[in-house]
Amino acid sequence: MNYSEQKSLTTRQPRQLLVTGGAGFIGSNFVHHWCEQYPGDRVVVLDALTYAGNRQNLAGLEEKANLRFVQGDICDRVLVDRLLQEENIDTVAHFAAESHVDRSILGPDAFIRTNVVGSFTLLESFRQKWQNQGQPRDYRFLHVSTDEVYGSLSADDPAFCETTPYAPNSPYSASKAGSDHLARAYYHTYGVPTIITNCSNNYGPYHFPEKLIPLMCINILLGKSLPVYGDGQNIRDWLYVGDHCRALDVVIHKGQPGETYNIGGNNEVKNLDLVHQICELMNELAPDLPVAPAQQLITFVKDRPGHDRRYAIDATKIKTELDWEPTETLAGGLRKTIEWYLSNRDWWQPLLSQEYQAYYQKVYA
Ligand code: NAD
Ligand code: TYD
Repeated sequence: MNYSEQKSLTTRQPRQLLVTGGAGFIGSNFVHHWCEQYPGDRVVVLDALTYAGNRQNLAGLEEKANLRFVQGDICDRVLVDRLLQEENIDTVAHFAAESHVDRSILGPDAFIRTNVVGSFTLLESFRQKWQNQGQPRDYRFLHVSTDEVYGSLSADDPAFCETTPYAPNSPYSASKAGSDHLARAYYHTYGVPTIITNCSNNYGPYHFPEKLIPLMCINILLGKSLPVYGDGQNIRDWLYVGDHCRALDVVIHKGQPGETYNIGGNNEVKNLDLVHQICELMNELAPDLPVAPAQQLITFVKDRPGHDRRYAIDATKIKTELDWEPTETLAGGLRKTIEWYLSNRDWWQPLLSQEYQAYYQKVYA
């Protein structure tokens, strides 16, 4: 029996959530999931609306009485303190981050500020509230992190498990590693009920165009080249974002404070093979492509500096202890995702802004 089935058999206390980064890709999918599953809960979204944040991602939800959107910075201690008090927050789901490796190579400063200092600010504020309230047992601080903190695997290494030593290789993954260590330390030092999740690459609706899967879909629709870094043999383990949101739901409800849970899709694929799959689906689903078949657009470009060769997640712990496993196949999830991008041009077209074009030039010129 999974958590959703169990919860209908037991009485559940409503929660007051602060979702940081709730206007970004995974955060907004999580807010949709939570509001649908737990309409009686209060959900407060705190998001700075950087280039990656988009209020449109929450369209249709904002009118609901139980959702409040606050535009603000997680580094703003006064604001964070005020929100935790005002809304009597008992659960923080912390997604806010600078999240793109290529941008971290161009300019690491924002990554240190948001990912390290911002996470520290949230942890401090939450610690104070939790202590002032007499350390309630049901408080939770979910720190959402990445498998990239574990570094790079070679072809026959075993997959990352929760005890794999940290070995981050990019400014992005180093800043996430720093914040993971802080979340861990707050449990061990103060007893703050933090839980860390380290997840593999996500894909699905509301994914910003700079990331591999949306970038390939959009470039195919525009007849632009499909830039594959290096030899295209790097491997990632892809997880459909809806499966990730279900995992986080289970972790908040059933996870043990102080623990780490690895979350993965059991979908290891080489980048070049993934791009071919995307091309196949686009050839089938998108009429009148400017260049068809789309495979002709594949172009090998200069490799990303420090490019990790392979990521793979061993998700045994979350399966055996919390009864979660992914339900979406890569073929099924990719089809759904591509159909979403085809039906939501109004969502992604405005994101290809001047700022985005300038970024694109810097990375791919
Ligand atoms: P995203 O870049 O799509 O969204 C990040 C959100 O955080 C945006 O809405 C942005 O406006 C907001 N934000 C940035 N700086 C902020 C600040 N200082 N204050 C408040 N809000 C701020 O990222 P995502 O892909 O949705 O990732 C969410 C989290 O999940 C991140 O912590 C990331 O490290 C982690 N993660 C992502 C993946 C993935 O494949 N995308 C995989 C594993 C883990
Ligand atoms: P990305 O979506 O940036 O996620 P991450 O670097 O966090 O894993 O990239 C996924 C993989 O695709 C990664 O190995 C880099 C590669 N890639 C390309 O080959 N071309 C591209 O244009 C992009 C954005 C990524």
